[in-house]
Parts: sequence; C-alpha cells; structure tokens
Amino acid sequence: MLIASLECRGFRNLADARTGLAPGISVLHGPNGAGKTNLLEAIYFGLAGRSFKAGSDRDMIRYDEHSVRVELALDGAEGSLLLAALDRSGERRHRVDGRPLTGARGERPLVSVFHPDRLQLVKGPAAHRRAHLDRLVGALRPSRSDLRARFGRTLAQRNALVSRIRTGQASAASLATWDERLAAEAVPLIASRAEAVDGLAEPFTRLGGSLGLEAAELRYRPRAEPDREAIETELAARRERELGRAYTTYGPQLDEIEVRLGGRPLRRFASQGQQRVALLALLFAEREALLDARRPAPVMLLDDVMSELDPTRRRLLVEALAGAGQAVITATEREHVPAAPGLRPIAVRDGRTTALAAGDAAAREPGDEQRAAGERAAG
Ligand SMILES: Nc1ncnc2c1ncn2[C@@H]1O[C@H](COP(=O)(O)OP(=O)(O)OP(=O)(O)O)[C@@H](O)[C@H]1O
Ligand SMILES: [Mg+2]
Repeated sequence: MLIASLECRGFRNLADARTGLAPGISVLHGPNGAGKTNLLEAIYFGLAGRSFKAGSDRDMIRYDEHSVRVELALDGAEGSLLLAALDRSGERRHRVDGRPLTGARGERPLVSVFHPDRLQLVKGPAAHRRAHLDRLVGALRPSRSDLRARFGRTLAQRNALVSRIRTGQASAASLATWDERLAAEAVPLIASRAEAVDGLAEPFTRLGGSLGLEAAELRYRPRAEPDREAIETELAARRERELGRAYTTYGPQLDEIEVRLGGRPLRRFASQGQQRVALLALLFAEREALLDARRPAPVMLLDDVMSELDPTRRRLLVEALAGAGQAVITATEREHVPAAPGLRPIAVRDGRTTALAAGDAAAREPGDEQRAAGERAAG
C-alpha cells in the first residue's frame, strides 16, 4: 500500500495544495524554513492522526486558521482515502473512506519516523521503548497487537483493587485472583517482546556498525521471566509491601529495552550524534525485521538524516531504502541524497512544492500539480 499523494489544508506554512509522492524515495529539498519538515509531519498526521513532534498537536494549525486537515490518497487494492483533521477546540477526526479507523490490518501503511524529537526513543525513559516495541510486536504479528492493551487493562484493575484494599473497601483475599490474571496476561507479552528484540538485535548491531557505531547492542531486560507460576509467587511474596504503595511492583510494566554502545548505556554516555545514528539503526533494523517477517515495509519519514553522514553512509542508507517500500527524506541540499533508481526530488520553497524530473531542474513531473492557496472552496 503506497501513498500516492497528500493534500493539505491549513497545515502550518504549507500551501493548501496536493503533492504527489514517488512510489520509492521522495527527496524534499529546499532552504531552511521552507516547509520540508512540515510536509513530513503532514504525512505522519494523515497516517497516525497526530504529530510526531513533542508539544501540542494544535500547533499544526496555521496561525490564522481554525482547523487543519490532511488527506492521503492511498494506492492499494481499494485505493482508499485517509483523512486526518483537528480544530482549535481539540476536536479530531481520523477516517478512512469516511469511516473511523478500526486498526484492522491493511487499513493504512505502517510508518517509521526519524526526527530529533524521536531521540527520546533511545535516550528517554523506558516507557517510550516499551510502547514502541509493543507496536512493533503487533506489526510483526497482527494477532499479538492487543497483548499490550490487555495487560494494561488487567494491571489497571489490579492497581485499583490494591487502592481499595488500602482504604478498607475491599478484602486482601480478592487479590489472588488478580495475581493469576495479571500473570496470565504478562507471559505472552514478555515472550513476544523477547522474540521481537531477538530479531532486532543482530540487524541493529550490524546496521549501527556500518553507520559508524562501535559495538551497538540492543538488549531486552525483562523485570519478570515469562513464567506464570513464578510471577504469581513473586506477586504473593510482595503483597505486604505493595499494599503499602498502592501499585504493582513486579511485571512487564517495568521492563527495560536497553540500548548500549561499547558496553555502556547509550542514554547516559553517548554523544548526540551517536544517539541519532542509534535511532536510525533501530528504525532500519525494524524495517528489516518487518520485511523478514514478510510484512509490508513501513513508510520511512526521515528528517534531515543526511547532513551528518559521509558520502559512503549516505549511499548505504539510500541503497537500503531503494529495496522496498516508500520513503520521504528531507535535505537542505538535493545533492545530499545520492541518486537511486526511482528517486524523485521535490523542491520545497515557501510552503510550496514542485516535483522535478531527476536531472532536469526545469521540467515538471506529470501528476504533481500545485494549486494555489484558496483556489478551492474550503471544506
Ligand atoms: N502553525 C504554523 N502556522 C504557520 N507557519 C508555521 C506554523 N508552524 C510553523 N510554521 C512555519 O513553518 C516554517 C517551515 O518550517 P519547517 O520546519 O517545515 O522548515 P524546514 O524546511 O524543515 O527547515 P529546516 O531546513 O530548517 O529544517 C517555519 O518557518 C515556521 O515558522
Ligand atoms: Mg526541517
């Protein structure tokens, strides 16, 4: 499933217009402040219904507008249309062909983003990595996509019970049943996380290495082993202490997925540049794992990845992307992205795009029209 084009309305500095995307690699190039990152964010908004930037989603609404909307025309079996919209009151819509999204398989392409705000994934708290890994688990095996939510619901119910016991509204005897349920939901989640990290570890080290990271490692550090009885026993042993705290101190809600460089935790010791490359290697490792599992490649949205890489590493990235799936890369200089078959440069300037045929700065590529702001009635 590919994104054939996106159409924005009221999105930051972007003109209200349609932009066609290449089925392979689109390169958005232009000066600082042109709107390149905004275009990536618009694509992400269309796919995910939110921004990938930290901060308020309402910031996507153009200064003088009340709402923002993005439509993505998908080029798949059915050729559907994804719509994401948000207004200043906070009301949101995210629909496919007019229906709310259900999360069903094949409804929309998977997406993977490289952006400075995403560095939290490698350097931030473990909760980010757990959530990210659980999404990958679901992408690798759709039948496992509800494991996280099921565990989360059971944990919340158990925590609520612990609070009621503390205030004398429930008896401690009822906790044993919830320990059993929690252990039953924890085991498949832990096992799936272990399997997913297992599949990522080798490509992460290899890709990290070819991008210049020495001894990059990804490790799953589960808080509990995937063993129902052992988890129940441990929860029972902690019961007294837990009742003093009102939360659950044992289980996969405390797992760590550790990124290490040269044997040390990346979060604590790695430089900014090393963190960036580690994030890039992680995203490419995930892409490889998905392709190995015969899942579709995610749409790769890569913001300004080329500027800090040498020519050999730039070529390596582009070659990796050229194999399968769709990618959109931003760069201030078009030359920063090495040529590849099917690569389409798109110039961005003052929020407007012009697709150029490769090698011909004057020619417009058919199918990429640019409509002036306000030409069509708002709607
Ligand atoms: N809500 C908004 N409404 C209107 N304009 C906005 C809004 N938010 C941001 N902008 C403007 O969008 C412009 C383009 O931002 P963007 O981050 O896309 O630039 P860029 O092409 O990625 O530049 P760089 O090469 O520096 O990364 C900025 O100059 C910013 O002022
Ligand atoms: Mg930018």
